[in-house]
Amino acid sequence: MLDWNAFNEPDDAVAPPPPQAKKSEPQADAPQAAPAPEHTVDSVDTTRYEPTGSAAYEAAQKALEALDVAPGLEELEMGAERVEVDDKKMINCRADLNQLVPFKYDWAWTKYLDGCANHWMPQEINMTQDIALWRSNDGLSEDERKIVMRNLGFFSTADSLVANNLVLSIYRLITNPECRQYLLRQAFEEAIHTHAYQYCIESLGMDEGEIFNMYREVPAVAKKAAWALKYTQAIGNPQFQTGTLENDQELLQNLIAFYCVLEGLFFYCGFSQILSMGRRNKMTGVAEQFQYILRDESMHVNFGVDVINQIKNENPQLWTEAFQAKITQMILEGLALEIEYARDTMPRGVLGMNAQMMEEYLKFITNRRLTQIGLSEQFPGAENPFPWMSEIMDLRKEKNFFETRVTEYQVGGALSWE
Ligand SMILES: [Fe+2]
Ligand SMILES: [Fe+2]
Repeated sequence: MLDWNAFNEPDDAVAPPPPQAKKSEPQADAPQAAPAPEHTVDSVDTTRYEPTGSAAYEAAQKALEALDVAPGLEELEMGAERVEVDDKKMINCRADLNQLVPFKYDWAWTKYLDGCANHWMPQEINMTQDIALWRSNDGLSEDERKIVMRNLGFFSTADSLVANNLVLSIYRLITNPECRQYLLRQAFEEAIHTHAYQYCIESLGMDEGEIFNMYREVPAVAKKAAWALKYTQAIGNPQFQTGTLENDQELLQNLIAFYCVLEGLFFYCGFSQILSMGRRNKMTGVAEQFQYILRDESMHVNFGVDVINQIKNENPQLWTEAFQAKITQMILEGLALEIEYARDTMPRGVLGMNAQMMEEYLKFITNRRLTQIGLSEQFPGAENPFPWMSEIMDLRKEKNFFETRVTEYQVGGALSWE
């Protein structure tokens, strides 16, 4: 708690004492100094503050005198009206977006609060054992080293792609303040994730250029990044506006590409590989960073799914059969790219998994992403060969608003490998 008394001292009380003013016990016969006048906040001598100013300050004041506030208010079609809940919409909303309340989408605000309660920083994680293991000649197999390198290579730039899409494309087009509040929280979490990868790369003494440029050099990594960038470019043009069927579908497609495929599928091969390493007591610091990131990411996916479903509910005309077919194909393209990535990173069995098992796992996740947004499963009977993944990230927390709400998150909650 702040102690406000500390801000109630007279100004001269904080000045450093002169050298000769060393404190000593008062002599019994020495004359006592008169007590200093008592200063309070209210007793400050305001006559000391005569109006003064430079020519630049006077010019600034003159400019403000000429400021007309009316045009700014007229930009908002609701004028100075108070916002009603029924005025609020996910896209194409004309109500004042600076008024956070009253909430219409309580789930968005709850997720914002849950995200804040889940706050963590990369430096809190001890990397000492990872550094020793990475430097040792026989601690990790070549295949295990490749998995660490490839995943840091993919993730170190993938989170930047997500953050750029959020702040440069999506934020402007989602016209709801409580959702924007979550988007700002998510954007900071993406910055923390990029920070975490940088922290791992620096701690392990890796070649930074090699890792950060992997998305331009290694085909299995580059294809995933290029696939996602295509959807950012579609709506990232500052001239792009929603409000037509075609453009609203374009935005919805971007949301599904980023939330359901990039964050909801492209991350899962890498997450399961690194977490499998952690379960084997290898690279436990890196694995712990990934575990925190996975916890954030499952929340991002849930939020995205809720936004997508809300836009569908409010704009049913967008969800045509042709559009559903297009979206299904887009998600399956993402699946194919992730399977290719699995094969590239696991030419042989490693860490109790192989590319075939990963393919099954990715099909299992793809089914889930499809059904979460109301599309049909494409791989009936696909099962999860890595049930420990569900335990680590706790699929109960993967529920979205339309199923249940998350309440388990707490700041600084210890993660367990059990
Ligand atoms: Fe992220
Ligand atoms: Fe994310």
